[in-house]
This record gives sequence, C-alpha cells and structure tokens, in this order.
Amino acid sequence: MNRESIERIYSAYARVYDRLFGRIFQSGREAAMARWSPNPCERFLEVGVGTGLLLPLYPRHCEVTGIDLSEKMLEEARKRAEALALGHVSLRRMDASKMDFEDDSFDVVVAAYVITAVPDHRAVMREMIRVCRPDGRIVLLNHFTNGNRLLAACEKAISPLCSRLGFRTDLSVDEVLDGWPVAIQCDARIRPFGMWHLVECRNRKKSMQACAARIGIPPSAATAYSIPRARQ
Ligand SMILES: C[S@@+](CC[C@H](N)C(=O)[O-])C[C@H]1O[C@@H](n2cnc3c(N)ncnc32)[C@H](O)[C@@H]1O
Repeated sequence: MNRESIERIYSAYARVYDRLFGRIFQSGREAAMARWSPNPCERFLEVGVGTGLLLPLYPRHCEVTGIDLSEKMLEEARKRAEALALGHVSLRRMDASKMDFEDDSFDVVVAAYVITAVPDHRAVMREMIRVCRPDGRIVLLNHFTNGNRLLAACEKAISPLCSRLGFRTDLSVDEVLDGWPVAIQCDARIRPFGMWHLVECRNRKKSMQACAARIGIPPSAATAYSIPRARQ
C-alpha cells in the first residue's frame, strides 16, 4: 500500500463507506467513546477521520480536529459536521505520517480503524506521539491479529488481498506498539467477533527523551529512535 493507492481506494469508497463500514463498526466507536469522560477544553485529534462517523460522539465541550488523506472522505465528513452543527469540529486534509501540527498540540489522539489502513504505521505512530502532549492519551481502535496461530496464519495469507481493498490484516498490537514510549492502559476486545481491539495508551515521550539524553541522543531526535516501551 502506498499513499496514492490509499487515497484512490478511500476516495472510491467515500459515497458508500457509511453503508459498508458504518453500522458494523459503530459498537466499537461507541465503546471507545464510552471509556472517556473528557475534561472541558480537551483537544482531540482524530487521524484518518474518514467520513466522520465518530464525530457526533465527541463531547461538544471539546475541540476536535479531524484529518484525512482523502479529500472525498473529508467531503462526507464536512457534510456530516454541517448537518449536525458540529461547530467544535475542524477538518483538514493532511497526511498522518507527516503532520503540520506543532509538538504537544493535542490531549488525545485517536486512530479508529486506521493504523492498518496507512502505508507506514511506524511513521503514523511517531507523529501521533509527537503531536500528543506528554502523558496525553493515544487511542487505537482496530483489528489486530491475536494469539491464535491458525487464525493469524489466515490473516497473514489474506493480507495482500485485503491491501488492495485498503487495509492489511497481519498486524498485531505488539508490532504496532513495540519500541514506542507508550504505556498501555487498556487493551479490550470489542465487537464484532472480539477480533477488534480498543487500545488506550498514555504518551510517555518525556521518559523517551530522558532516556535518549542518558544514552547520548539529542532529545530533539529522540522520536526517531526506538526505545522499549513502558508497560503498566
Ligand atoms: C478504514 S477508514 C476509517 C475511517 C474512520 N476513522 C472510521 O471510523 O470509519 C481509514 C481512513 O484512513 C485514511 N488514511 C489512510 N492513510 C492515511 C494517512 N497517511 N493520513 C491520513 N489519513 C489516512 C483513509 O483515507 C481513510 O479515510
């Protein structure tokens, strides 16, 4: 999967996306939101916001920014935001692996059904950690392979085919999170079929920078390095 193919695939989905992936994944979106009791003025970033199916679920007292590669998906999200008068939401076209935001711009960064739909999940994780404030929350809602070896083998086998449809099926939570300065707070299986996970992490990048300084890496370059993550 590369940037052009992802953009092309999701632009083609835009008009039918809600019918294909709306209801089936809505319980996951609701489960993600049910976990939070955001403080007033919390700043949320949703990467890969798509048609904005999660947008109505954010509390209105929070600031929400949504970004996506596909202008066509964003058009659908804009229609939704307008129809529902979501004045606390702003939407921008941006690549999640190369964001324009300053470091520490958000309190919570959410990727719903996205981390396996991006060309480079490491670049996206690096950017999510960078733009999230220290001790802020990073939330991944996604299908991940689990410990069942037979199922994992099937998921690996079908992954090249699924890539043509815009997502891969061969990534595990550990592959996505290993090496990043995040502490997992929750890894809950969610519907449908318990094959999807809601993973909530705390951003521990301060400790990564301290660690980088100890081993002689300039703190500004720390996000480019892999340092074993803290587990809680
Ligand atoms: C499966 S959809 C998920 C949409 C939405 N979050 C939801 O809950 O249904 C994946 C979205 O990620 C977007 N995407 C993929 N790679 C991206 C990237 N590098 N930067 C920003 N958005 C990206 C796609 O355009 C698509 O809209």
